[in-house]
Amino acid sequence: MDRREWLKITAATSAAMAISPPTFAKEVGKYQERFPFSAAEFGKDFKWGAACAAYQVEGAWNQDGKGPSIWDTFTHKKGNVHNFENADKTVDFYHNYREDIALAADLNLKVFRFSISWSRIFPEGVGEPNELGIEFYHSVIQACHDNNLEPWVTVYHWDLPQALEDKGGWLNRDIVSWFTDYAGFCAQTFPSVKNWMVMNEPAAFIGLGYMLGYHAPGKKGAMKFLKATHHCCLAMAESARAIRKELPEAQIGCTFSCSSVEPLREKAKDERACKRIDALVNRLYIEPSMGMGYPYDGFPALKKIEKFFEEGDEERLVFDFDFIGLQNYFRVVGKHSLFPPVVWAKQVEAKDRDVPMNEMGFEVYPEGMYTILKQFGEYDKIKKIIVTENGVCYKDTLEVTRVRDTERIKFFQDYLSSVLRAKNEGVPIEGYFIWSLTDNFEWSEGYGPRFGVIYVDYETQERYIKDSGFWFKELLKP
Ligand code: NOJ
Repeated sequence: MDRREWLKITAATSAAMAISPPTFAKEVGKYQERFPFSAAEFGKDFKWGAACAAYQVEGAWNQDGKGPSIWDTFTHKKGNVHNFENADKTVDFYHNYREDIALAADLNLKVFRFSISWSRIFPEGVGEPNELGIEFYHSVIQACHDNNLEPWVTVYHWDLPQALEDKGGWLNRDIVSWFTDYAGFCAQTFPSVKNWMVMNEPAAFIGLGYMLGYHAPGKKGAMKFLKATHHCCLAMAESARAIRKELPEAQIGCTFSCSSVEPLREKAKDERACKRIDALVNRLYIEPSMGMGYPYDGFPALKKIEKFFEEGDEERLVFDFDFIGLQNYFRVVGKHSLFPPVVWAKQVEAKDRDVPMNEMGFEVYPEGMYTILKQFGEYDKIKKIIVTENGVCYKDTLEVTRVRDTERIKFFQDYLSSVLRAKNEGVPIEGYFIWSLTDNFEWSEGYGPRFGVIYVDYETQERYIKDSGFWFKELLKP
């Protein structure tokens, strides 16, 4: 048996051995002094997990009957992604899932969040399901159960089947029923999954994909943005109802990208600009589901969305989610601006404010996690919040088998301290998932930013637990 085969079979042990046991023990000792809190302070039922998404980790983009998604098309066209990179192979989770799931368990995590690739299940988006695709997710779910990890499934993490994009994608109102049918099918097919997130970060995939053109499918324009937004909000609620019908006991949620929004200067016009940004960034996708409608009070121009309403839509937008997934990476600092018109507001980037940043230029601002959790804690309708993603990309260096990512450890210490502070003040936070378990393909940024607590050598596909991974392992030690 060669080393790679051995690695696969004894994944968990091999991970600990990537660093020789004595070094590992010594390092863990060092980290013990570096916990500003204990896991117990978060509560014994607190869900600790790690998250990933199909397109970013699976690879096998055209294997076993999978149809192309908009991200396959987008990355295969020059000019869209940094260095013309793509996730055709990425970290090959399609073949390495057993090893990766065992590694998550080895870090003492209890939840593994992953997404289903729609076009692996339905190559054409609708119609005949692909048995091999279904089998793959059965195996992933089984591997979670075998490792005592709860599978938390995201139904849609941005990889729309290309066949549906060819019919208009999120701009075609039929997507509400395409998506609802797909979500219902997933629930019916994978009944052992008890926790579902219908979509990941609607503000991001609609904003970047249908307004700014920076993500797949690369469309631009304000009216496209509003139309896609309305269809997305309808699909969010309808798909949740479809899952509820199949699995009445399941916990159903949706994840949202959220950022605290603060004015650059204490000026009324910057404060007004921030109200509009807040409506777009934090409120637009969640408030309709809570029966509050779109946030016209924050940004009156949003009223144009009513052009796409049909009778009964206001009621159809509503769904009583069991939890919401809050995902926070940075703070938004905004100011009044003549451009873009209508919004009259602009985000002031971190690099122009001389503040700490990650490799992608996102501001590292742990206080913002506290502020946004408090803001979401104000909604009466929110019963439970899970931080379904949080993490950071820094330049990592692999020294033989070791990645000393102390800055990332500091990030987790500080962000988790903010989570605990908000929780102790009564915000109903019941879980925290690391983004991400392994390094992976970061959308239009390609492979540059590494978010994992496990380093992946993309050439050899070897995995190495970073020091931050060991830090979690120690924090969560039973
Ligand atoms: C949120 C997205 O859900 C995820 O796919 C992405 O990789 C991270 N943000 C980091 O940018």
